[in-house]
Amino acid sequence: MAFLSLLSIVALSVFFHGVTAQTSTTSALPTSTAVVEGLNYLARNAGKKYFGTATDNPELTDTTYTSILENYEMFGQITPGNSMKWDAIEPEPGVFTFTDGDVIAELASSNGMMLRGHNLVWYEQLPSWVTDNNYNATGLTEVIQTHVTTEVAHYKGQPYGQILIHVRHAWDVINEPLNDNGTMREDVFYNTLGTSYIEIALTAARAADPNAKLYINDYNIEYVGEKSTAMQNLIKSLQAADVPIDGVGLESHFIVGEVPTTLVENMQAFADLGIEFAITELDIRMELPETAELLEQQKTDFYTVVNACLSVSQCVGVTVWDWTDKYSWIPSTFPGYGAATPWDDNYQRKPAFDGIAIALEGQSI
Ligand SMILES: *[C@@H]1O[C@H](CO)[C@@H](O)[C@H](O)[C@H]1NC(C)=O
Ligand SMILES: *[C@@H]1O[C@H](CO)[C@@H](O)[C@H](O)[C@H]1NC(C)=O
Repeated sequence: MAFLSLLSIVALSVFFHGVTAQTSTTSALPTSTAVVEGLNYLARNAGKKYFGTATDNPELTDTTYTSILENYEMFGQITPGNSMKWDAIEPEPGVFTFTDGDVIAELASSNGMMLRGHNLVWYEQLPSWVTDNNYNATGLTEVIQTHVTTEVAHYKGQPYGQILIHVRHAWDVINEPLNDNGTMREDVFYNTLGTSYIEIALTAARAADPNAKLYINDYNIEYVGEKSTAMQNLIKSLQAADVPIDGVGLESHFIVGEVPTTLVENMQAFADLGIEFAITELDIRMELPETAELLEQQKTDFYTVVNACLSVSQCVGVTVWDWTDKYSWIPSTFPGYGAATPWDDNYQRKPAFDGIAIALEGQSI
């Protein structure tokens, strides 16, 4: 046994040495080779409602960026990265600033894209007046109701832009309510109102726009584990109390080579609750620098995630958390990591693009 192990170690080191040598003589990293219609075109062909992306207002001045973003064949759904969050929409009590959010809503509508409102009640990007005013339960209930009602009513099925298409829209009504161990996150909403803040927000959203799909969105609920179980229990308790809830958002911020192996099993558990769900913020980051091997693994990883969505019919679509590395949030949030999206900094499609396309075409990688 000892002899065999030693042999394997020698063989492994030769193998890795060979790969290293090969990589160092190759100057260009691999890129996409797929020749396909756009990803939204493929997603709709595959029976999904959309393939979409997050975007943000500052990058809309980049015309190369917008020329790809506004291609409906490529993206059929848009999520605003920041401009519909509480601090942007209601910076002072009762003072609503919809300007930047409207730009994204009009972009979606004028291109026939679906809009995912993001988000209504979240512990972050919250103006200090919400957290620091020591509202009691009655006061904070009114604050939530005013915020949710006013924002959802504003974006309710409005005929933005020039093309009057009835856009199916969804709201991340509640964002990231759970701790990783499955307990409720202790933020101003929970500490003042307990779990009832979720019902207050969902009920107000349904009343303001009966046609919008109402979601709870979170991370680390993409795989079987205590946080996902806690989310399922939360959904069940809302359903038992007749609180309106239509779906769960699986954020899906993954790391190359570490995509969970229980994606499909976990998705089926949400589907079994009689709700829809979506992959809402997909990116798959790698430790920099990029290498050919990491980019190939990333292709496999994107394939795995999109293929999981295809295998469960209640998965309505996939949204990437922006589509080019140029505008990805990853490098600033996870120092040392990056290259998390299907297009590189120079708008070249990466192998990851092919991984998505191959999955949407129903083929094996
Ligand atoms: C809650 O706060 C409001 C406004 O400060 C106050 O009028 C009301 O009496 C408080 N309610 C309770 C139950 O303390
Ligand atoms: C769960 O996680 C939260 C946040 O990290 C922590 O405050 C809490 O004590 C944990 N609860 C249990 C039961 O471990």
